[in-house]
Amino acid sequence: MSDQTAVAPEERALIDLESQYVVQNYGRGEHTLRAARAEGVYLYDFAGKRYLDFISGIGVNALGHAHPRLNAALKEQLDTLVHCSNLYYHPYQGPAAQKLAAMSGLQRAFFCNSGAEAVEAALKIGKGYGRSKSAGKYEIVALHNSFAGRTLGAIAVTGQPKYREPFEPLMPGVRYIDVNDTAALEAAVNDNTAAVFFEPVLGEGGIVEVDAAFGAKAKELAARHDALLIYDEIQCGLGRTGEFFAFHHWGNDFTPDVLTAAKPIAAGLPLGVVMCNEKAAAVFAAGMHGSTFGGGALACRAAVEFLSMLPDLLPHVRDVGGYFHERLNAFAAKYDFVTRTRGKGLMVGLELTVAGNWVVPQAQEKGLLMNCTAGNILRFLPPYIVERGHVDEALAALDAIFAAGPPADA
Ligand SMILES: Cc1ncc(COP(=O)(O)O)c(C=O)c1O
Repeated sequence: MSDQTAVAPEERALIDLESQYVVQNYGRGEHTLRAARAEGVYLYDFAGKRYLDFISGIGVNALGHAHPRLNAALKEQLDTLVHCSNLYYHPYQGPAAQKLAAMSGLQRAFFCNSGAEAVEAALKIGKGYGRSKSAGKYEIVALHNSFAGRTLGAIAVTGQPKYREPFEPLMPGVRYIDVNDTAALEAAVNDNTAAVFFEPVLGEGGIVEVDAAFGAKAKELAARHDALLIYDEIQCGLGRTGEFFAFHHWGNDFTPDVLTAAKPIAAGLPLGVVMCNEKAAAVFAAGMHGSTFGGGALACRAAVEFLSMLPDLLPHVRDVGGYFHERLNAFAAKYDFVTRTRGKGLMVGLELTVAGNWVVPQAQEKGLLMNCTAGNILRFLPPYIVERGHVDEALAALDAIFAAGPPADA
């Protein structure tokens, strides 16, 4: 048995407690990594084995682990003010919102605690906007294969039936179309559309990029039919693709009415945000929406630190991301079951002609953390502080795995 699966007594106790007392919705088991601590781009298990963390908390730990500047700020904040609710002002919500406004081109922020909560608030804004125009204006146009989170509104706009069907009936009026199908978009959007909602790069859907033509058509149709244009940048936003937001890759003219962001925003602490233009922000009068924890002092302090560092990190994300894509693409020539890379910057997918789940435990065994999404896409979301040398390390592990080839049943 490898050291990864050997179960020491303290780990056994941990697994047993979870299996007895925790809802079993994550499918963790004997082989699941047991994380003890982490630093920089590395995570360590209970046995002290080191892993190159190329999934970074599913795109959350953008500054890696235990970042000295972030941690110094958080330690100070812990002793100063952690939470005071949204009944009161604290020093960090306004500055975090100001930075996000400059990066997104959207004037106002609503803070919450997670991606799904940001999606819920964005949908409420969309529906509230439609409702203010007419009672029948409540339809939402969303994409097949998208993922928007696990709450009821979020699964209603998630274009994957497996997430929706066990909980139906859901919010009515959602129409799904294929990504980059501008004709279908044109057919789906009408005067009853309250919002057009999509990820500029589909994350869970397999690192699929929405193209500029689709972005332009969405913008045009939303304007023509007075619907709100909402981008879900929870996975692809805030520097992940090498721009502040993924929609910036299309050009200067694609700013939506509403944008959701979360994962890396507080570099590991729970925080989500909805950015809105004035028209969208006006939907929420005082008392119409809120969150007890949302935008708390500790999380917003982390956001201010992360957002302050982000402009200087973008060129690095582009550089290391470009290198990563280039080197991964070489595998397509070397291995017949590897097709090509997908994504931009440090949002990296590697498409296989076969199912890709077999790679994940083998990579973990070799000290590399990543995952597989949409069946055949190996997904890498390394922290923005990753260096070319770390990419080389990851590539060596993958090369060794690929050289042995996929199992017969992949
Ligand atoms: C694009 C997108 N939207 C929404 C969510 C939901 O975010 P959370 O898990 O923080 O609720 C995710 C999470 O993976 C996501 O990738």
